[in-house]
Amino acid sequence: MRTYVITGGTDGIGKGLGLHFLSRGDRVIAVASNPAKGRAFMAEAERLGAAGRARFLRADLSTVAGMRSAVAEVEADLDVLDGLVFATQRFQARREETADGLEYTFALSYLSRFVIGHELTGLLDRAAAPVVLNLAGPGGLPGRIHWDDPQLRRGYSGKTAAMQASRCNDLLGVGFPRSHPGTKIRYVLYNPLFVKTGMADPLPQPMRAVTKTLALLLAQRVERAVVPMAALMDDPPAEPVSAFRRGKPLPLTGKDFDPEAADRLHRLTLEILNG
Ligand SMILES: NC(=O)c1ccc[n+]([C@@H]2O[C@H](COP(=O)([O-])OP(=O)(O)OC[C@H]3O[C@@H](n4cnc5c(N)ncnc54)[C@H](OP(=O)(O)O)[C@@H]3O)[C@@H](O)[C@H]2O)c1
Repeated sequence: MRTYVITGGTDGIGKGLGLHFLSRGDRVIAVASNPAKGRAFMAEAERLGAAGRARFLRADLSTVAGMRSAVAEVEADLDVLDGLVFATQRFQARREETADGLEYTFALSYLSRFVIGHELTGLLDRAAAPVVLNLAGPGGLPGRIHWDDPQLRRGYSGKTAAMQASRCNDLLGVGFPRSHPGTKIRYVLYNPLFVKTGMADPLPQPMRAVTKTLALLLAQRVERAVVPMAALMDDPPAEPVSAFRRGKPLPLTGKDFDPEAADRLHRLTLEILNG
């Protein structure tokens, strides 16, 4: 029996992966903020006969306190962690700031993955073949890191924020083994392309209607989309970090995966965390 922690594990792809692991006999902690979704996840686990192996851990991962409380609860619960999946997202059409004064998407979609990934390294390294699966957008829509304004105080759009977080996650993956030399952890960046989830619900109209119509035509069902992700977690590439667009490997070349930019982002993130 393997043990997985899945942030954003109560909806969409994260929930699909959690139910996939539970149905084959593994243990899953799903971390998310909405208790109703947590109860629905636990009810589905019960239907699979897996309630004893499932846990909903409530945390608001847009705040540093929420990230750290999730880490503390996981550390109190587990002796070893085989797999960590990052699947949180919440589209913000308007710029919002978290309790820490950070732009919401930067905090939820990037910073929570930085904090939780780095802080759970000890628990992961106790597993035989630990894997981190970071779901974002490598090799996808263009976007950039706004080095002079990472909190996007100027010229905010929801898409700009989502794309920036994606680029940050590319560099988080590249930087991870540089921060943990000798770790057994395999870090896998994964762009699922278009998957039928509630992702479009917070979009403003008419973008919501367009996205939902396109999803009906083009998006993969969650149950199908999670199969190659689970296979990658079971048998990750030998390299410390790798990237995929759907099942297809991506070369770790170009500015999205530049090690110097990864080091720069690491330093910037520590400065943000240390106030
Ligand atoms: N779906 C796609 O087509 C697609 C395409 C490319 C990349 N991706 C990536 O794949 C991942 C999963 O996407 P999805 O479409 O499956 O997402 P989703 O269905 O919208 O689910 C998002 C999850 O994040 C959780 N979450 C939101 N705000 C949170 C907060 N403040 N604290 C803790 N948890 C929070 C949600 O639970 P609560 O609301 O209860 O907090 C939910 O469990 C994301 O990283 C996304 O960027 C998806």
